[in-house]
Amino acid sequence: MESRKILVTGSAGFMGSWIADALVEEGHEVYGIDNFSGGSAENYKGNYRLFVVDLAIAKQVEKVIEKVRPECIYHLASCAREGASQFQPLYVTQTNYQAFMNLIEPAIKYGLEKIVAFSSMSIYGNQKPPFTEDMPRMPEDIYGVNKAAIERSIEILADVHEFDYVIYRPHNVFGIRQSLTDKFRNVVAIFMNRIMRKEPLYIYGDGEQVRAFSYIEDSLPCYIRCLDDDIKNEIINIGGMHPITINHLADLVCEAMGVSKDYPREYLPPRPLEVKEAWCSWEKSVKLLGYEEKIGYEEGIRRMARWAKEKGPQQWTEEKLALPSEKMPKIWK
Ligand SMILES: NC(=O)c1ccc[n+]([C@@H]2O[C@H](COP(=O)([O-])OP(=O)(O)OC[C@H]3O[C@@H](n4cnc5c(N)ncnc54)[C@H](O)[C@@H]3O)[C@@H](O)[C@H]2O)c1
Repeated sequence: MESRKILVTGSAGFMGSWIADALVEEGHEVYGIDNFSGGSAENYKGNYRLFVVDLAIAKQVEKVIEKVRPECIYHLASCAREGASQFQPLYVTQTNYQAFMNLIEPAIKYGLEKIVAFSSMSIYGNQKPPFTEDMPRMPEDIYGVNKAAIERSIEILADVHEFDYVIYRPHNVFGIRQSLTDKFRNVVAIFMNRIMRKEPLYIYGDGEQVRAFSYIEDSLPCYIRCLDDDIKNEIINIGGMHPITINHLADLVCEAMGVSKDYPREYLPPRPLEVKEAWCSWEKSVKLLGYEEKIGYEEGIRRMARWAKEKGPQQWTEEKLALPSEKMPKIWK
């Protein structure tokens, strides 16, 4: 594949760092943007130029775009706390919809050819799974509303300004490099850190919520393959082929972390607006991108557990959400 000039936003984050490294490996000229609000310095190996910039500040973003003039942008930067977004709606909007607009306007001005945007399964809301790409956008939370607005804005702007796009709707991607310190999101990482800290596993509701988990190295090839010119103007679900309950996930994490399945669990009231069953169809990702689960979620959990145990127990990031409420889970207060 011919080398391209690519900017990856959120490149110090979990998925962004895997993607940036893979693009460097493929021989592309890669640049990154991150403000380290959710990512970590450990995820940046110094193998491309990283701009430490806050996407919520338009002037800073425009300067980078003017300098780099990327042909292609992988846009991953976001505060992706779906459940907590009801309690920090302004921040989630500044780091999602506002950040996207701060990025896309100068990008179009300086010659953008293709954007690969990371949306979310949250745009489907409470519809009946499996979610297929042709279902309407019906988000049930502020994060999903932001992602849906970004998706629709891309369709409109791509049509008017003639650039290509691929929108991914990943769901429950987990693995090595994911933050172990964020108590607001990523259930696999939260369970692992709670076990290492000898804290009980908190489970919202009865734990019978259904989700499908996918290990990062299984989906990574799909994220790179979409650079092919024949893959354009598509919206594609990416995620696990095996829906499981949160209770079952807890069993698997306990086993991988080397503790008994009887490890203490505390069942908390359901989180407001949490969707009971959420998983996607994977047919389109298989057909267009050859998605396959070579590692799978069970082996993925074992790999991540080995990595987490090497890192050891981590301090939870202290952060007060803007709109505390009785409806907030107690560990978020
Ligand atoms: N991991 C998943 O399962 C999953 C599922 C659905 C969608 N997504 C989407 O994929 C993307 C990446 O998710 P992730 O799990 O790797 O999250 P992550 O938190 O590990 O990475 C996001 C990165 O964006 C950076 N960032 C946030 N706000 C920023 C800002 N204002 N300016 C500059 N940088 C900023 C953070 O510092 C972080 O490094 C997100 O857009 C998320 O919504 C992820």
